[in-house]
Amino acid sequence: MILLKLGGSIITNKEKPLTPRKKIIENIAKSLKKINEPVIIVHGGGSFGHYWSVKYDMHTKPKKYDMHGVAIVKNSMIELNKIILDAFVKNKLNPYSLPPTDFMWGNKSVPNKIREIEKIAKAGLTPVTYGDALWYGNKKTYILSGDKIMTHLAKILKPRMCIFALNEDGLYSDLKTKKLIYELRGENPKISENKMDVTGGMARKVEEATNIAKMGIDVFFVNGNKPERIVKAVKNRKYEGTLFRGKNNA
Ligand code: IPE
Repeated sequence: MILLKLGGSIITNKEKPLTPRKKIIENIAKSLKKINEPVIIVHGGGSFGHYWSVKYDMHTKPKKYDMHGVAIVKNSMIELNKIILDAFVKNKLNPYSLPPTDFMWGNKSVPNKIREIEKIAKAGLTPVTYGDALWYGNKKTYILSGDKIMTHLAKILKPRMCIFALNEDGLYSDLKTKKLIYELRGENPKISENKMDVTGGMARKVEEATNIAKMGIDVFFVNGNKPERIVKAVKNRKYEGTLFRGKNNA
C-alpha cells in the first residue's frame, strides 16, 4: 500500500487565492489509474485552506481561534476536496472522501478508524483525506496539516512507501543552483528555506518525512508536475526525486 500526499502547491496555484490547478489534478488522476496497488491520498490546502488560515490567523497550535475562520477554512477545504474528487471520478477512479474528523479525536488519531481506511483502500476505493481546521475541545480548534496526517497514517498502516508530490523536483542541497539530493539515509538535511506558511512549509515536510523514515518506511519527494515519476517509483522502483530511505532499508 502507498500513501500519497498531494501538496497544496501542486494542486493549487499558491500565488493566487482559491485557484485550483485542474489540469495537473487531472494528470495526477490519469497516472493513478496506472497504479494497481492500493493508494491512500492526502491533500493539502494550498491557496484554499492556507489562504483563509492566514486571513484568520489560525495555526497548528490548539487555541480559541475565530469560529467564523474555522467555518470558512473547512468550507474551502471541502470545495478543494470536491474538485479533486470530481477529477478522480472523471478519470474512472473510485475516490472515497474522508474528512479528518473521521479518524481524529482532538489532535490524536483513532487507530481503529485508521485501520478501516486500509480496508477501504484494499476494497477498490481510493480514500481521499486532507489537511483541515479541526475541533480540539474546550472551544479550541487547530489546523491539522496533511503532512501530519501522513505521519498519523504511516504509523498505524506501515505502507510500503510514502510519497510527497511537490511543486519542485525534490529536496535541493542548494536552493540557488537547485542541486537535487537523490537519497538520504538517516541523515538530517539542512533546510535553507524562508518561505513559510501556517503549517511550516518545506521544513515541516522534511520533519514528517524524517519521522516516517525512522519508522522504517521509504519516503519519496517527487515533482507532481511530472506524475509519471510517481508511477515509475511505485511500479519500477525508479526514483526521480529525493528518496529518504526507511531506517531498516538504509
Ligand atoms: C493545510 O494542509 C490545511 C489547511 C491550511 C486547512 P497542508 O499544510 O498539508 O497544506 P499544504 O500542502 O502545505 O498546502
